[in-house]
Amino acid sequence: MNQALASAAGSTGTAVRTAVLSQGEFAEIARIVRDACGINLTESKMDLVHSRLQKRLRLFGLATFAEYIEFVGSGSNRDEFDQMISALTTNVTRFHRESHHFEHFDQICLPKLMRSSAAGEPVRIWSAGCSNGSEPYNIAGVILDKCPDAARRNFRILGTDIDIRSLAVARSGRYTREYVEGLPEQSMRKWFESDASGYQVRPELRQLVTFNTLNLIQDWPMRHKFDAIFCRNVMIYFTRDLQEKLLQRFVSCLKPEGLLYIGHSERVSGPAASLLKPVGNTIYQYNGS
Ligand SMILES: C[S@@+](CC[C@H](N)C(=O)[O-])C[C@H]1O[C@@H](n2cnc3c(N)ncnc32)[C@H](O)[C@@H]1O
Repeated sequence: MNQALASAAGSTGTAVRTAVLSQGEFAEIARIVRDACGINLTESKMDLVHSRLQKRLRLFGLATFAEYIEFVGSGSNRDEFDQMISALTTNVTRFHRESHHFEHFDQICLPKLMRSSAAGEPVRIWSAGCSNGSEPYNIAGVILDKCPDAARRNFRILGTDIDIRSLAVARSGRYTREYVEGLPEQSMRKWFESDASGYQVRPELRQLVTFNTLNLIQDWPMRHKFDAIFCRNVMIYFTRDLQEKLLQRFVSCLKPEGLLYIGHSERVSGPAASLLKPVGNTIYQYNGS
């Protein structure tokens, strides 16, 4: 296996050994990841896979990707498997991302939800693929602006993701100054408490949001239907076939007239399309019963 090792100078000047990722090894990692979480790693992602997993090899003192594949692929090392998935997911997100969704939610969806909550109905919103929590906290912020007693009125937001590292940040509700800098002054003031080490999401927002690990391509333990589902910039990483299956499952989890918000470069297709009426830019309403 020595030919699979190359020497490279590390930033400290000491020589570090860098394992070469062969096409075959990449294909095997891509297969494991696709089977586990639906993410479709095309060959253009070979450098990304190499650099992100190289760190994992070093951590375990493994010299080749073949050894790493055996290490995680055997199924006996669940923790490292989760870390590999975490390393290979794309978690880019931010507050106010695709802000027209939050405007639509605020102006069109929320007034209806407030009426149904006044009639005693629970309000349930799901942020599926929530990354570090910016999306569900953003939804909470929008709700609290109009409905300060949302928690008492049984509004709840569920944030789920497969990536355990992102979920740890989401659960902590802590963000760096750089991350929140640039947000409108009003959001900064209303959503966060600040201290020397960063920004903490306020308790009234956190009270509305629950986070859970959930792999979207496995079983969902949902006991109720949702008024709105945000699944933005997640399906884009899946094959078309999987996207269509996921859309069908989302539809089956929506209340009648429930809303589905998807990412700017995602499309609704397949059998679910006939049940999802476009009501805005990448916003769909379930028109079944
Ligand atoms: C680009 S982020 C999108 C975050 C947020 N929805 C947004 O639009 O800002 C995609 C998220 O999907 C998650 N993800 C990818 N595959 C998943 C799967 N099979 N199940 C659950 N989450 C998944 C990733 O871990 C990542 O946090």
